[in-house]
This record gives sequence, C-alpha cells and structure tokens, in this order.
Amino acid sequence: MVLATDNYGRPVRSMRVQVNTTCNFRCFFCHMEGTGTHSEYLSADEIEKVIETASRWGVNKIKFTGGEPTIRRDIVDIVRRTRKHISGNISMTTNGIMLPKIAKDLKAAGLDRVNISLHSIEKEKFEFITGVDGIDQVVEGIRAAHEAGFSPIKVNFVVLKNLNESQIPRMIKLSAEENVILQLIEFETTREMESSEEFQKYHISLERIEEEISAKSFRSEFNDLHHRPKYHLMIDGKEAEVEFVKPMRNYDFCNNCTRIRLTSTGMLKPCLMRSDNYRNIISGIRNGDRNEDLDRIFLASVKDREPYWKKEDELENNSEIFWVSEG
Ligand code: 5AD
Repeated sequence: MVLATDNYGRPVRSMRVQVNTTCNFRCFFCHMEGTGTHSEYLSADEIEKVIETASRWGVNKIKFTGGEPTIRRDIVDIVRRTRKHISGNISMTTNGIMLPKIAKDLKAAGLDRVNISLHSIEKEKFEFITGVDGIDQVVEGIRAAHEAGFSPIKVNFVVLKNLNESQIPRMIKLSAEENVILQLIEFETTREMESSEEFQKYHISLERIEEEISAKSFRSEFNDLHHRPKYHLMIDGKEAEVEFVKPMRNYDFCNNCTRIRLTSTGMLKPCLMRSDNYRNIISGIRNGDRNEDLDRIFLASVKDREPYWKKEDELENNSEIFWVSEG
C-alpha cells in the first residue's frame, strides 16, 4: 500500500469525516471542526466514495464528527459502508445523548470507539456551556456505550479557565468509576482569534495541570500516534487514565499530524485551523469522475497539508520583541 505523504514528510493515515454541522447542543467554544454551519450535507453513498478514495492511499482510520453525527438518521448505514473499506479503527465524537438508542446498532455496523464530550459534571455549568440541561443523558450515554461493547471509551473535557477547571479532580474520579479514558483538551483557536475576548477569558495552558497530575500518577506513557502524554492514577483502588491534548502553538502536535478532513459539504480540508485551502472532491463524485481523477484531487489535498504551528511563529514573536525594544 502506498501512503500519501505531504511535502513535510507526514503520511496521511486518518480522515475526520464531518457528517453534518447541526447539533442538539450549543457549546459556546465549539470550533465546529473549522467549517461553520451548513444545512446541506453529503449522502451516505457520497461519503462512502470519498472514504473509498482515501482508503486507496493508505487511510485506514476514520473518525466521524459533526455537528453531532448521531442525529443523522442514516449514521448506522454510514458506519456500515465505511467498514467495507476500512480495516482499522473507526470512531466517532459525540455528545452521547443518542447512544442509549443507537450504540448497539453502531457497534454491530462496525464502529470501534466513541469519544463522548462532557465538559462539566456540574448541572448549572453544563447548561451554561452547552445550552442544554442534559448531563444525566450524557452519563446514560457513557453507560450505553459500555453495554454496547465499545472499548476504550474516551470522555472529552475541554478545560476552561475559571469555569470547569476546578472539576478536573472529579473528572478523574469519574474516569476511574466509569472506566473511561479522560481526555483533557486545551481550548484551541486560530492565530486570528487568540486575542478574542472569549479566548482570553477561558483559555488556560494545560502545563501546570499536567505537572500536578504527573506528580500523582504511578505510570505514564506517550501515545505513539499523536505524541499525547497519558497518565495512570489510582483513585480509591480503581485506575484512572488521563490523556492530554495540547494543540496551541505546539510544533510537535502539527509535526505528528497524520489527518485529513472531509467537510459536511464535500470539501477536502487539510487543517482544522484553515478554511482557505479546500479542494472540492464532491463535484467529481457527482459528475461520475473516474477513480484516477478522484485520486488526483485527494493527493493534491494531501500535498496542501502544512503544519499550522511551526517555528516561524516563534520568529514572528521574536521580531515583535526586537521591534518593541528598538522603539
Ligand atoms: N477547543 C478544543 N476542543 C474543542 N472541541 C470543540 N471545540 C473546541 C475548541 N475550541 C471539542 C469538542 C469535542 C471534540 C471534537 O473537540 O467538544 O469533544
């Protein structure tokens, strides 16, 4: 199998497939997978054709995102079609509340894993963050995911300064009690939005939090694929696992990126943070283009991939400092 590789030597191994942009939650910090909202979306058949194209070039891992993927009525069919082309991991990021209804069907269709977003275990803050009173349903969703046999189950927690950071010890306890891996995710945004009021208000670097958790852990390791540090802690005789995702101004994060994205409107998107370098693959599919033509579009999009955070950012910062000192 030939792996498609970009100009920075990074192979593309996985694709994040955005199946819609609608969601039953309204999390104020949501990056919407970097696309904004759209009412139209691809059919299951069209999604399958894009995945089939990517699979010819070594993509063997799929993550379904949205919006909220589980509110698409044909999501089980989409997973089933994906399984025909992908022998590796197929996973989904979800708010979890539909899982009691469809977790078993998703599992039977070939879904391997779910990441369930839970950004607060305090009722009021959950509502403040998501706009919905749904915390119990999410916890039910975690249990349904276990019953369906998903393993491991990850819980995503975007750390927000002075809003949910104090809940981290309770989230670690939840990781031990509910047998889930806790992913502590840094609030991320683009260079342009870093100075926004919201980002300034809620962004917190995870360095100090990581140091504290590291000190309490009995074992730690690096996830090879994404270079993510993971810590194992013992809480009342049960093991908790905590992973850190620290994308902001992190060269390592970008250097180890092996992802490409498909937007809900059928564009190949090389980077979460950029919307200026999409390639339209869906028109080719709708026109009945040959595989070779679809391959060409896919490979061109792979070549468009560039690390978003790279050393030049440091130089930019330095030059700013020089400029100030000269003035
Ligand atoms: N920063 C970090 N994580 C985010 N997510 C959504 N928006 C942001 C953001 N600005 C999370 C979602 C979900 C995962 C796909 O990313 O809550 O858990």
